[in-house]
Amino acid sequence: MVKIAPSILSADFANLEKDIRSVEKGGAEYLHIDVMDGIFVPNITIGVPVVKSIRKVTDLQLDVHLMIDRPIRFVKDFIEAGADRVTLHLEADSQENIFSSLGLIRSLGKKAGLSIKPKTPLEELFPYLDLLDIVLVMTVEPGFGGQEFMPDQLPRIAGLKALLARKGLSCEIAVDGGINSETARLCIGAGADVLISGNTIFSSSDRGAAIKQLRGI
Ligand code: DX5
Ligand code: ZN
Repeated sequence: MVKIAPSILSADFANLEKDIRSVEKGGAEYLHIDVMDGIFVPNITIGVPVVKSIRKVTDLQLDVHLMIDRPIRFVKDFIEAGADRVTLHLEADSQENIFSSLGLIRSLGKKAGLSIKPKTPLEELFPYLDLLDIVLVMTVEPGFGGQEFMPDQLPRIAGLKALLARKGLSCEIAVDGGINSETARLCIGAGADVLISGNTIFSSSDRGAAIKQLRGI
């Protein structure tokens, strides 16, 4: 079954614990945390201290999505704060630093992810595939919640799925941006293993029902 990672970017930050409980109870597998620096993307969100506080109130696996320039500078800090899964952007650092960051995440016993923006050629992922637990295909331009899904990403998801199968690699394909019940169905059809969703889940008063609907059940 597809896994669901609610993105707290659309949660109520003044009532974050309550919102986290609601998606825990609703059956989510991961909690997605968007970290933005105002440089790699034109928005600023949350940082290390918030992850540390969240860690204290939930046992959900914390799925940290770093949309920051030169993420190598902060990988260790986020893991020390409690991240279980750390995804960085391949556009955000040098190849050498990306290799080092992925190695560091894995050496600390955590899941390593690499994300790709909608317009970056898929081939740029290829050198790293052996080192990845997660490939995160952005289905919007990163930076903001509530944007419209980009259907031109579907063939990329399917292509990646086929490539991973050919190579015998078992890393998860996650999709992020504009995921609702309709686009979820398309992404699952294309091969997505994890659906990250902010607006659809947190705008619903029944989080469990929203999560079920995304799974298509
Ligand atoms: C966007 C973030 C997403 C965002 C998704 O840059 O990476 O995780 O929260 O939000 P929705 O599901 O509202 O498109
Ligand atoms: Zn995200």
